Amino acid sequence: MVSETARIGVIICSSRQPRVCPQIAQFVVQTIESTSLRSNDAGPCLELIDLFKWNLPMFDEPDLPSQITDHYQYKHAHTRAWSEEVQRYHAFIFVVPQYNWGYPAVVKNAIDYLYSEWKGKPAMVVSYGGHGGSKCNAQLTEVLRGVRMVPTTQSVELTFPNRGVLVKAVKGEDISFDDTSESDVWQVGRQHITAAYSELLQMLVGTNVQSN
Ligand SMILES: Cc1cc2nc3c(=O)[nH]c(=O)nc-3n(C[C@H](O)[C@H](O)[C@H](O)COP(=O)(O)O)c2cc1C
Repeated sequence: MVSETARIGVIICSSRQPRVCPQIAQFVVQTIESTSLRSNDAGPCLELIDLFKWNLPMFDEPDLPSQITDHYQYKHAHTRAWSEEVQRYHAFIFVVPQYNWGYPAVVKNAIDYLYSEWKGKPAMVVSYGGHGGSKCNAQLTEVLRGVRMVPTTQSVELTFPNRGVLVKAVKGEDISFDDTSESDVWQVGRQHITAAYSELLQMLVGTNVQSN
């Protein structure tokens, strides 16, 4: 059993205004919280991390993050604050849109600031887009391996059910996951989220999870 003190950060990887990413992140969290994996409140705590709210400048540290051994060595206060935030979590779920066959710059920037804070931690990628964002998913997974994270073998690619939903997503409008004509698509998405999350939990089992 995974300790209740385990914390999983759910990273909202779009900073556009408006955007659909917070809705997708909520869909992921609600799917996980409604599964038997979370029965009796025995699972880890899921917390949202919104990169728009963090509003990090473009990477501006003078030293290599992989050479930093204590976060007080970072030059900038925003880096120290971001380091403290990432240190709080034992694993991460990246909820990420596909932009032009890749992932948004805001998430690469947020990753590049740090190194040891990511290293060794399990990660799961949930991409979304007109075709599920497979290219962005694969590219981000590769980068996560570069900072020595441990991605789940199962990824999640959520495809907007039709063009109408894509148009709403672009405008940040309510995409109503329970619309009966589209529910099959989201139901498959829920199954994939549950399967990948189950793997993430297995990775956390046996890790030295403590409350900080
Ligand atoms: C710059 C940009 C590039 C995009 N490229 C793709 C793409 O390659 N594939 C795709 O399926 N959707 C693409 N889209 C559509 C997005 O899936 C859609 O806009 C979605 O709402 C983006 O997520 P967000 O609103 O959370 O930023 C792109 C959107 C933007 C803004």
